Amino acid sequence: MTDLSLAERLKASATLTEARLEQALSGAPLPGERVRPERLMAAMRHGALDGGKRLRPFLVMEAAALFDVPPQASITAACALECVHCYSLIHDDLPAMDNDLLRRGRPTVHAAYGEATAILAGDALLTLAFDLLAGEEAHADPARRVELVRILARASGLGGMVGGQMLDLAAEGRFAGGAPLALSLGEIRDLQAMKTGALLAAAVDMGAVLGGAGSGQRAALAAYGRAVGAAFQIADDILDLESTAEAMGKAVGKDAGAGKATLVAALGREAAGELLDDLVREAEAALVPFGAKGMILAQAAHFVAARSN
Ligand code: IPE
Ligand code: IPE
Ligand code: MG
Ligand code: MG
Ligand code: MG
Repeated sequence: MTDLSLAERLKASATLTEARLEQALSGAPLPGERVRPERLMAAMRHGALDGGKRLRPFLVMEAAALFDVPPQASITAACALECVHCYSLIHDDLPAMDNDLLRRGRPTVHAAYGEATAILAGDALLTLAFDLLAGEEAHADPARRVELVRILARASGLGGMVGGQMLDLAAEGRFAGGAPLALSLGEIRDLQAMKTGALLAAAVDMGAVLGGAGSGQRAALAAYGRAVGAAFQIADDILDLESTAEAMGKAVGKDAGAGKATLVAALGREAAGELLDDLVREAEAALVPFGAKGMILAQAAHFVAARSN
């Protein structure tokens, strides 16, 4: 895929992702399973297939590609991460959380299947992620697989995505009698680094582990992942303000009214835009050690900031 443009590479990795997820979410029970309940499977498929930018799997595969790992060898780990992301969206949209009815241009999982099924579909996608990572297809070396499991678990849980979601809801004032909390800039950045940044940074780190990166290379990629992760949520928050539900495939214009802790709210639109530009430059700078090979990831940082959906 080396000579393809960013758009072509995004498309190629999304096609691979779709096919691998389709494989994981269909067919007969696996050894150790008894039956795969049809309604649960349908809800998981609704939440995970045929949609989304597939940016996280792309980042896993492109980070691994820096070390000449072919996409076929990184796709399973990439899909494990995408399963966690899709589960996070299903739960994020629940009535108890952001209470949204539209996602990826169609009804959210709870809107289509009800709340209980949506909770279970999220749960089952989360466990599927670790099933995928535990298998030899994720990596031939068991020690590397354990490392991938650890990265994904830490990024997903208490001190990562789930923890960030907790802070996000707390900031709305839900557990403090109603009024949004006045968070400092540092607190908002921590919250966002957890709820969104952690999985994006994990994508790049998993790619580094798949590629057998040395410690310097891994640290450089971690700096890239942190910057892209932060940029991603600022762009999401700007799009909530300026885009349309049609373009985004999800509800927009909700963050301010909900009292979400965003950098757009804290800094204003203009300063948030400047911070976004700084983060893209930071991401690019982190790629310097990779020379020309880092070009696609550098373009991806620009894409994250300038995306329209
Ligand atoms: C949406 O993520 C949730 C946030 C972290 C802001 P994406 O914008 O990557 O969602 P999909 O996967 O493309 O639908
Ligand atoms: C969601 O952030 C982050 C996770 C799902 C973990 P948002 O709540 O801003 O995402 P959207 O705007 O609903 O996609
Ligand atoms: Mg949310
Ligand atoms: Mg939301
Ligand atoms: Mg949002």
